[in-house]
Amino acid sequence: MILPEPQAVTSPLTRAAVFLVLTIEPGGEGVVRELLADVQDMARAIGFRNVEASLSCVVGIGSDAYDRVYGGPRPAGLHPFAEIRGERHVAPATPGDVFLHIKAEQLDLCFELAARLTQRLRGAAVVVDEVHGFRYFDRRDLLGFVDGTENPVGPAVGNALLVGDDDPDFAGGSYVVIQKYLHDLTTWNAMTVEQQEAAVGREKLSDIELPDAEKSPGAHTALTSIEDEDGTELEILRDNMPFGSVAGGPDGGGEYGTYFVGYTRDPAVIERMLRNMFVGDPPGVTDHLLEVSTAVTGSLYFVPTVDQLEG
Ligand code: HEM
Repeated sequence: MILPEPQAVTSPLTRAAVFLVLTIEPGGEGVVRELLADVQDMARAIGFRNVEASLSCVVGIGSDAYDRVYGGPRPAGLHPFAEIRGERHVAPATPGDVFLHIKAEQLDLCFELAARLTQRLRGAAVVVDEVHGFRYFDRRDLLGFVDGTENPVGPAVGNALLVGDDDPDFAGGSYVVIQKYLHDLTTWNAMTVEQQEAAVGREKLSDIELPDAEKSPGAHTALTSIEDEDGTELEILRDNMPFGSVAGGPDGGGEYGTYFVGYTRDPAVIERMLRNMFVGDPPGVTDHLLEVSTAVTGSLYFVPTVDQLEG
């Protein structure tokens, strides 16, 4: 049996990325469907000009858009992202019909592909959010911590990410949740390194995990480490990227952010992590990172196989 070909969801983290969220104009569905069928070919053509830079593009399609563009049977886990509201923190749900995750070792390739794709979508879809992400030193976020260490590796990646026999019509597909976070670096930088390490649950310079006994219940890595009822760890693949502008932001003092991208075979896993972060488990103790991080976007997409996109 030939297995369906997944999109490049398991490809390694890169130095650069462009994240595009689009909404589809009424009547634009046909153009979008045709374009999505061509994305892999366009990425191959542009990427071939510098193969070492490993250009790839993952396409995600939102719940309402799925019916508009494809119709027919739906992936079992696909639904609109629902706002998560805790007592002090909110993970908002924001519009998004198509998500394009373009990544490479060089920004020029990402930019070229992003430009070509959006040119073809003119009149059919509108870019509602565009973020250019960059690698910050040794894979650190703008809070200064190494981000991505506990991502699954080897065969565990496919198990965590790809739909299997549980939804056979969509096997080889995946789901992606994205959120754009803005950081309050003034408050963060006024904290001691020990306080920051307690918030994350890892040492800052060495990236070594703090012992469980010493971890604060509100540590980010405590609230996002979850297991199923058999005690098996539930993993996701995070492709977070720093982004920002030194003169942007509400007071002109800069905009410093983390673009969260989480791939999973089952969106319920990420939704549970988010509930732990924003509401607490048990409710009350929320993620210390949220004291300095505000989610400003949030959406969920199905990631079809290459065969489905091109079919
Ligand atoms: C403000 C945005 C975020 C920042 C700056 C951030 C940063 C980090 C850092 C520094 C780590 C420790 C190193 C590592 O294992 O990667 C980490 C771990 C992790 N994060 Fe996040 N993260 C953010 C949002 C999220 C969200 C929204 C989720 C899921 C819904 C998430 C899930 C995880 C998971 C599963 C781990 C690994 C936990 C473990 O097994 O130890 N993160 N994150």
